[in-house]
Amino acid sequence: MEANSNTIISLQHVCKQFDGTVVVDDFNLDVKQGEFITILGPSGCGKTTTLRMIAGFELPSSGKILLNGEDISLLPPYKRPVNTVFQHYALFPHLDVYDNVAFGLKLKKIPYQVTDKNGNVVTKYKKLTAREIDAKVSRALQIVDLDEMESRDVSTLSGGQQQRVAIARAIVNEPQVLLLDEPLSALDHKMRKDMQIELKDMHKKLGITFIYVTHDQEEALTMSDRIIIMKDGIIQQIGTPEDIYNEPVNAFVADFIGESNIYNGTMAGKMKVRFLGAVWDCIDDFPSNEKVDIVIRPEDVILGEKGKGKVNGIITSRIFQGVHYEFIVNIGKFEVACRDTKDHPLGGEVSLDVEKENIQIMHKEYGENEYDAVITSNGEILIGEDAFPCDLTKLVPGSVLDEKGYVYDPKNKKKYDFSNAEVEATIPLDKITISDDLSSGHAQGSIVSLVWKGDHYQYLIRTDDEEDFIVDSDYSWNEGDLVAVDALPEDIGLRLKKDLDGYVAE
Ligand SMILES: Nc1ncnc2c1ncn2[C@@H]1O[C@H](COP(=O)(O)OP(=O)(O)OP(=O)(O)O)[C@@H](O)[C@H]1O
Ligand SMILES: [Mg+2]
Repeated sequence: MEANSNTIISLQHVCKQFDGTVVVDDFNLDVKQGEFITILGPSGCGKTTTLRMIAGFELPSSGKILLNGEDISLLPPYKRPVNTVFQHYALFPHLDVYDNVAFGLKLKKIPYQVTDKNGNVVTKYKKLTAREIDAKVSRALQIVDLDEMESRDVSTLSGGQQQRVAIARAIVNEPQVLLLDEPLSALDHKMRKDMQIELKDMHKKLGITFIYVTHDQEEALTMSDRIIIMKDGIIQQIGTPEDIYNEPVNAFVADFIGESNIYNGTMAGKMKVRFLGAVWDCIDDFPSNEKVDIVIRPEDVILGEKGKGKVNGIITSRIFQGVHYEFIVNIGKFEVACRDTKDHPLGGEVSLDVEKENIQIMHKEYGENEYDAVITSNGEILIGEDAFPCDLTKLVPGSVLDEKGYVYDPKNKKKYDFSNAEVEATIPLDKITISDDLSSGHAQGSIVSLVWKGDHYQYLIRTDDEEDFIVDSDYSWNEGDLVAVDALPEDIGLRLKKDLDGYVAE
């Protein structure tokens, strides 16, 4: 990636591992001068780690970070023209507002160059004068709107005011880039809303680049020029708030960035797609029969009289929200969340329709679970460090197991020994079972993420040795739950990586 001239910060193939676990994976991003860019994602997805690498508190395991085209990957934090406002900031409780903001400046040594009597240029350091400090502190306090409170004890300030002191302390150093790690997370809802507007205002007044981290999607949508959606250390999508809301690239992004209906669908001809038991016109041209994910925003569902729309359903939930009503309409076993300014009775029959432009179609993120696996000496399959019973006769069509456990092919009368054979194993998403009885399955892991797909949940379950199981299930579990997973031998597909002839037993 060639950074262009108005790029201030460029992250190129940045990876970070802690103790062998990858927490940021191949992160690529060009931040433009003056941009307000937000990293958005669930807890633990690597947001703070990414920010800490930009600030210099953490070094990338691989990859480069450029500032104005120069590699700063190895530069210590204090040499980077970058300041951070932390999630948990700490003010000096015994100092007033002014001194909290001035603190860093009083210690700061400014390099300057002089020519000595021998004609050599040497670098010397001087401290800022009281007058210089005063000018800088006054400007910073003005920007955060605290210029009237200079001499207030910080312990007498409200949460929002303290947060502004923390921001003033960061901008007083005149950084080129301000990093903000969930700076509003400690504030109540109303204060948060006010501070969002003020931060946007400060960004405009300062004219510098903001890199903002949050797990609040609404905050990201209202404040940012561009949003980066991260999941599990990996960038899912980068785009303007409108792009991300209207054209999410996958079900995770759609689900994370606002309420949406997500369904499994199948392409049913040119610009036609089948879901919710009907065939709908759409504007995406995917190959026929391709399995796809469908996303429909609740505000895009058109409620009407029974028989007047595409499909009919029954209202099973009705909540008045002030400006509009929120309904759940059941179409068979599927739930559709919708909104209308008009009221409809609970239990009533209605029709639903959706304009074709509002049917968002996405390639499926997961088709099947696929693993590079090994057959053990007792005929089980090892996925990561977990052994599952499997059906080895799947490796040789028409074969049977003989009494010693060898796979026997009656057609050519050959016996096969698959101990240590490398195979590709596949398990369909709906063939893995989840249980809270940890002794019951052949592997266990915790639920990393989940998405509701209209009539079932899709879970990502990760084991200790970093194997992932994607599971479609009717049952409800929570993020973080530790569960057992299992699959039946007949549901585990097997394919040899090497030639069958290499496994003939004598
Ligand atoms: N110093 C460290 N040593 C080991 N693991 C770490 C370290 N710092 C972070 N991690 C792990 O890296 C992953 C990403 O952490 P990070 O703090 O970047 O997440 P985050 O997206 O900021 O989450 P949150 O929204 O909860 O603040 C987590 O699994 C975390 O436990
Ligand atoms: Mg964090």
